[in-house]
Amino acid sequence: VIFDNSVSGSIAVAHEIAELIKAKQETNSYCVLGLATGSSPIKVYEELIRLHREEGLSFKNVITFNLDEYFPMKTDNIQSYYFFMQEYLFKHIDIAPENINIPNGDCTVEESLLLCSQYEEKIRNYGGLDFQLLGIGRTAHIGFNEPGSHQNSTTRMVTLDHLTRSDAASSFLGMDNVPKKAITMGVATVLEARRIVLLAWGQNKAEVIYETIEGKVTSKKPATYLQNHPNVTFVLDVEAASLL
Ligand code: GLP
Repeated sequence: VIFDNSVSGSIAVAHEIAELIKAKQETNSYCVLGLATGSSPIKVYEELIRLHREEGLSFKNVITFNLDEYFPMKTDNIQSYYFFMQEYLFKHIDIAPENINIPNGDCTVEESLLLCSQYEEKIRNYGGLDFQLLGIGRTAHIGFNEPGSHQNSTTRMVTLDHLTRSDAASSFLGMDNVPKKAITMGVATVLEARRIVLLAWGQNKAEVIYETIEGKVTSKKPATYLQNHPNVTFVLDVEAASLL
C-alpha cells in the first residue's frame, strides 16, 4: 500500500493496531504484538500514544515482544533498544511492565542461549504473535536477520553486517562504538505471526523494497521470505515505492 507520506501511512497502521487491541478487549483476550525499533515505526508509536491520551485506548491487555537488541548492551544505555522503546512508547502508555519483553543484551554468550530459547517459548505460551510490525534494513534484514539467515531460524545471537553497522554509526557516534553482535527473533519467529506489516519510508529504502517485493526469495535477502507469508502488507511512501 503506497501512501503520500510516512505520516498518513503511520496513522493507518496505528489504527489497525488499535482496532486489534480493542477487538481483543471485547473478548477479554491478550493482544500479542511484535514491535520494532529504528526510525520507521516512530510515527506509528506517536499515533498510538495520541490514541491513548485523547481517545482512551488502553494497553492493559497488550503483551509486547521486541524484535531485537544489540549485544552486549545494558538496558540503561541510551543506545539500547530497551531505552528506545521506553522513550518512544512504553513510558507514555498504560502497558504493565511485566507484559513488556525485549531480548536481553546484558548477559554472557552462554546465558544468551538459554534466554533466546526462553524468549521463543514465551511467545509460544502466549499463543504466538497476533501482529508483527517490521522495519527493513538496507541489507534486507528484518529484525537483525542479516543475509545468510535461514528461514527456519529462531531467536539467537547474530553477527551484524558491515552495512548495518555503518548505518547505525551516527547514533553510536562512530562505527567503532557499534556492537558487532545482536540478539534477534528469527525469520521463523517473525513468519509465524498471524499478521505482518512492514514499514519503509524514503528514497534510501527504494532499492531494498524493490528487491524484497520483486526479487526472488533468497537467504541473501532475508526480507524476501515475507513473500511466503499469507497476511503481510508493505506500507510505503511514494519514495520507498519508487522502483516498483
Ligand atoms: C535496525 C533494526 C531493524 C530496523 C532497521 C531499519 O537495524 N534492527 O529492526 O528495521 O534498523 O531502521 P530504520 O527504521 O531506522 O531505517
